[in-house]
Amino acid sequence: MELFDQSADRLPFHDQDEAELARAGATEFSRDAQLRHLQRVPLFSGFDEAELRRVAELSRIVEAPVGTVITQLGEPGDSFFVIIDGTATVRTPIGAGIQLKPGDFFGEMSLLDGEPRSATIVAATDLRLLIVDRTHFWRLLDETPDLIRRILTILSRRVRRLEQTVDAILHGTNPA
Ligand code: CMP
Repeated sequence: MELFDQSADRLPFHDQDEAELARAGATEFSRDAQLRHLQRVPLFSGFDEAELRRVAELSRIVEAPVGTVITQLGEPGDSFFVIIDGTATVRTPIGAGIQLKPGDFFGEMSLLDGEPRSATIVAATDLRLLIVDRTHFWRLLDETPDLIRRILTILSRRVRRLEQTVDAILHGTNPA
């Protein structure tokens, strides 16, 4: 089965900057195709059709081939991403190899605090991504408080995991 719809945009360059990456989705999927993808994303589970339509209005779906650098550590960031299909690898300053899978999101930190990207994220496979731009991100959070709760829960988990990793590094034990 073909992973990506023919109608979707591809992101052709590995070093494409984020603005270009966001613009690449401009022609987009049809709204119905977009809704079908959104229905599969656990981050939006339990959302009614009106909420999903609102998410669809405030976002776009783009495709990125394996190897695409989606966010670059230290660079400014203006988009929030949710993985619909595929996996991505997170490289933080303390280590590599965190895998993100369908349903996982990233890019929220720079939107929340305005600081540069905290990690480099690379497409480990071809990716289909939902992208929400900065202005739409805040609107989306304002309109769907459930999303705030879900994002905060995941952020708490990431902080805990990071603390365990740092602890393991300091004490020479295996974080796994
Ligand atoms: P942001 O800093 O905007 O861009 C890079 C993203 O990588 C960051 O937001 C998070 O979404 C993600 N990220 C950073 N550190 C981790 C981590 N330890 N585990 C999972 N994701 C992370």
